[in-house]
Amino acid sequence: MSSTPFPDDFLFGASTASYQIEGGAHEGGRLASIWDTFAHTQGRTLNGDTGDEACDHFHKYAQDIKAMAEIGLTAYRFSMAWPRIRPTGDGDFNDEGFAFYHRVLDELDKYGIEPLVTLYHWDLPQPLEDAGGWPERAIVDRFVEYARGTVEEFKERVTYWTTFNEPWCTAFLGYASGAHAPGRSEPAASLAAAHHLNLAHGLAYKAIKEVHPEARVSIVLNSHLPRPWNVADPRDVAVAQKVDALANRIFMDPYTTGKYPAIVLDSTSSLTDWSFVHEGDLDAIKGTLDVLGVNYYSSHVVRFNDAPHRPSGQDGHNSTVHHCWPGADDAEFMPLVGKRTTMGWNVDESGFHAHLMRMHRDMGLPMIVTENGASWPDEVSDDGRIRDVDRYTYLHDHMGALLKARAEGADIRGYMAWSLMDNFEWAYGYSKRFGLLRVDYASQERTWKDSAYWYRETIRTRAIAPLDTLESVVENPPRAY
Ligand code: NOJ
Repeated sequence: MSSTPFPDDFLFGASTASYQIEGGAHEGGRLASIWDTFAHTQGRTLNGDTGDEACDHFHKYAQDIKAMAEIGLTAYRFSMAWPRIRPTGDGDFNDEGFAFYHRVLDELDKYGIEPLVTLYHWDLPQPLEDAGGWPERAIVDRFVEYARGTVEEFKERVTYWTTFNEPWCTAFLGYASGAHAPGRSEPAASLAAAHHLNLAHGLAYKAIKEVHPEARVSIVLNSHLPRPWNVADPRDVAVAQKVDALANRIFMDPYTTGKYPAIVLDSTSSLTDWSFVHEGDLDAIKGTLDVLGVNYYSSHVVRFNDAPHRPSGQDGHNSTVHHCWPGADDAEFMPLVGKRTTMGWNVDESGFHAHLMRMHRDMGLPMIVTENGASWPDEVSDDGRIRDVDRYTYLHDHMGALLKARAEGADIRGYMAWSLMDNFEWAYGYSKRFGLLRVDYASQERTWKDSAYWYRETIRTRAIAPLDTLESVVENPPRAY
């Protein structure tokens, strides 16, 4: 028994993703991904922001990893960019791309920080989208080749491998609402994309285990917690169950039961006959998870409405007039009450606890919280401090919910704050700040926010630091580099 609330081997980390932080878009042999194309298309991202430079982590990785060590992180979750490693998607692997990630791993190694590597955090090589993208079955083989080649290269150095980050976003923001790259609005294709992501995971799992039997392989799912508006109205309850199935179970059930839920097949039957699911596919997916990655930010309330008006942003994900819920036209997402982040998302740590317990019950796997955090306005005070009380309060309360879930039996092995530093928030560009470290994009200087100090104290004590300890642990002026 550990004497601290978090056991000695608990992983305290932070997360990032390649396109959101690296920059170096044209360096080291990297070619374009769908996000380069999308961000460079007028009107797709706020202010036309792109990831060309992002946080320039491609050059500043050593300083960034030193900052991780100073905060005390014991783990770092990041993604490798497919367009760096295999730039055309199906041609030669790129030694320069491998070399960059070896340098990153060298630095992590220096400080004893455990790497958690995601193979796909949304930056698909553009030629693969030109060939049809995720709705085309041929992409499955391309992903498996990329996964096998990459794990082979790093197998001596990386144990934790994630295939996909938030496949729901890839399928439904990418191909249904079009709010994310590649920006297509084709409901039937989005469902095929969802299946190909599951299948690519299943087959990649096998390939990864062949080259690296000790690998711990996960998928990272974003949580949707659709609560019914009126629990006494069976139509609200039913529509919440449907959204849950289209959001969560479509990426859960194939791994546990080896089936797509009937409610998913029924509610989408007017869009597709699901003939993209071939014989043997579901057997290839079932049982292919060693660990589950859980991303959690907020919860939703939905009600039944025959013809909901869909003002932009009401799906809780993005400002889009398109619909990211094929099969759930009768779901109306209700305005969220209470405290809201600058994403418009509510703060609901009870939802985090509920979601962790549900995943524990339904998936029965060890879990790592792979993302949790919040974006706030983050004023820089005259003394240079960034007093982001809302952020460390959010982290404090959510880590509390995590400990409660652990105490009730959920096997949670780590917590990764989103994000290490402010970065490119997809369609919102640089307008949203989630970091523990503030990034000044003009100078690329990073400054520790109060949250970084709060997290350092939490990790040091292996206990959630009380909010009122902040003034005794913060440095004035804050560290910057
Ligand atoms: C989930 C995604 O994985 C990440 O890329 C994004 O920045 C955060 N959520 C915040 O929206």
